[in-house]
Amino acid sequence: MNSIEKQVEEILSKLSLKEKIGQLNQQETPVGEEVESFKEQVRNGEIGSILMSVGATAGNDAQGAVNVKFYNELQRIAVEESRSGIPILFGRDVIHGHRTVFPIPLAMTASFNEELIEKAYEDISREASNDSIHWTFTPMLDLSRDPRWGRIIEGTGEDPYLGSVFAKAAVKGLQGDNPADKDRILACAKHFLGYGASEGGRDYNRTEISDYTLNNYYIPAFKSAVSAGVKTVMSAFNDISGQPVTSSKYYLTDILRDRLGFDGFVVSDYDAVCQLARQGVAENDADCAELALKAGLDMDMHDKVYLNELENLVKSGRVSTDTIDNAVRRVLKVKILKGLFENPYCERREYDISKHREDAKELAAESVVLLKNNGVLPLDKSANVGLVGPFVHERRSLMGSWMLDGKAEETPTVYETIKAKSEGSVVSVNGTGLSWDSSLKWMYNTDVTVLCLGESWTATGEFRSQAEVSLAPDQIKLIEKARSTGKKVVGVLFCGRPVAMQGIAENFDALLLAWHGGSEVASAVADIIYGDTVPCGRMPMTVIRESTHIPMYYNVTSSGRPVNCYYGENAGECYIDSLATPYYPFGFGLSYTEFNYGDIKCDKKEIALNELKEGKKFKISIDIKNDGEFDGKETVQLYIHDKLASFMRPIKELKAFKKVLFKKGETATVDFEIGFDDLGFYLPNGEYTVEKGEIEVFIGKDCLTDRKITVLIK
Ligand code: GLC
Repeated sequence: MNSIEKQVEEILSKLSLKEKIGQLNQQETPVGEEVESFKEQVRNGEIGSILMSVGATAGNDAQGAVNVKFYNELQRIAVEESRSGIPILFGRDVIHGHRTVFPIPLAMTASFNEELIEKAYEDISREASNDSIHWTFTPMLDLSRDPRWGRIIEGTGEDPYLGSVFAKAAVKGLQGDNPADKDRILACAKHFLGYGASEGGRDYNRTEISDYTLNNYYIPAFKSAVSAGVKTVMSAFNDISGQPVTSSKYYLTDILRDRLGFDGFVVSDYDAVCQLARQGVAENDADCAELALKAGLDMDMHDKVYLNELENLVKSGRVSTDTIDNAVRRVLKVKILKGLFENPYCERREYDISKHREDAKELAAESVVLLKNNGVLPLDKSANVGLVGPFVHERRSLMGSWMLDGKAEETPTVYETIKAKSEGSVVSVNGTGLSWDSSLKWMYNTDVTVLCLGESWTATGEFRSQAEVSLAPDQIKLIEKARSTGKKVVGVLFCGRPVAMQGIAENFDALLLAWHGGSEVASAVADIIYGDTVPCGRMPMTVIRESTHIPMYYNVTSSGRPVNCYYGENAGECYIDSLATPYYPFGFGLSYTEFNYGDIKCDKKEIALNELKEGKKFKISIDIKNDGEFDGKETVQLYIHDKLASFMRPIKELKAFKKVLFKKGETATVDFEIGFDDLGFYLPNGEYTVEKGEIEVFIGKDCLTDRKITVLIK
């Protein structure tokens, strides 16, 4: 037994059953007349953790600033006035920023830059830990192929490998090497499992996912988070094929703990335990508590079902003391790992927020995806610019949903950042209404119109799903009006999700997807528009033509008939009334410069399976030249296609990428190594397998690349 386990046993041995159950209870911050009774609960050891927000959809509502003094007072009561003296664990949804707001996670993923993502979460951790926060409910690792789902913005898109890279970067950035460090906070991999497959993109809806699909698409990012040392996991609201995750031993114990090796604690989602009754697998709260706890769900968020029911369940013999003790052990271990017993109170420290804002701007800039450019960008600073649209003077929506502590008034607008850089005239027309018509005359004195469009942050996030994922009709009319003037038209889209592009992208001479890119996105956009920064973002998910094409994703298996819409094979046959190819494919993004790829080289044509298992790898390289007029970063992507296997394998699977800076005119060799862990897949039972046969290896600038070699596993 190691020292932490000894410490856990020593604490546990002194706890009453009530006090043990208190450690499994998380309640939200009390307000008004609740405060005094809440403090009494703390004194009685009933509160193991506090959710530092109010309401079931904290990401949609104003939460108010963190009152450190108040949380320190609650902690003092727990430590000094309760019998056990166990500190409270404070958790808050710090999803993509605290005082400094970084791009939404889907935008961060578009940077394909794990170093910047890790640095972002390190900054976020520093700021949050300075506000009494010990624990954040992020990263959200729900793979999703459905931009109708409002929570698509919180995840990492449609690819398991990209999700795995993000998972590791976020967990490392938040927890560091030692989560007990004062500047570090605990991460939470959520929502285990399959939430991103909610049918119809309708939040909280049911899912239908086979084990084969779970193992190869939805689980890998969680496996990566566990390998990175994540200390908590949040269970998902949804059911998988009729089994609510919240009460599933198969998902929460057999897979998460026994197969993935997770050794922290599992917290429910908000009221998810009591909702088992609505899901029809429990008759009452007692049943809910029994099912969830026995499944391996350790901490109950907000509904007090554990607090109210577990004591009687133990006394009636329905729940064993061992089951309670094991859950409490996991919670106590994480509290010890967080250093709560040594440092229970928040002591505010100075930090350089200007450095954090620089990091936010750098990540925002690397997240912006240049979708189209017929040469109009970058603009000359002397250009006379007309800024038009509802996002010209917008602040709040640039920060996106799940932003509890940033301040919109500190977020520069596009008008302010363009005006600051321009040496020509800048005219702005906010909104999309008639003001445009009355001020049309200024059009004749401008060189280019920049349309600042997008979607409100309130159209994204939890419980904010949309049937249509397109720009609003008035914005589409504005685009058409701008097009009719015969002037060059540049579009900047501040969206949380990639919107359907049919009938939109065609009307622009250049188009930037700036996402809800955080506090500094307007500054990043201005740098990109004037060429001080060269865009390098890549799509973390497919950009569809029409909402009716959803779901459409790149890592799809081949059909038996000669038709593969995504890859353009007889695409006109997929629907008789619509062209069902992606508008922009996964991994797509342009630059101001041009990268030309040479031939793929590999140091060997084949490796025996047993040698592969022993660690032998294919060493692959490719020469790439920057043939353009700008220095620029290229995200070189490596995909595989397992042509013949015991289960159908995707036509393309991203297995590696490297983001490389090329000076203009420079040629560089980019190297990859792929081996056993890259060339296999998971069987329905979760077993990882690599099978003999040919594997096609592709390298390119997005998933449509046809530049390939073939290697053999013999
Ligand atoms: C919400 C979300 C979850 C969040 C939690 C606490 O319902 O599903 O992601 O962390 O409740 O706010």
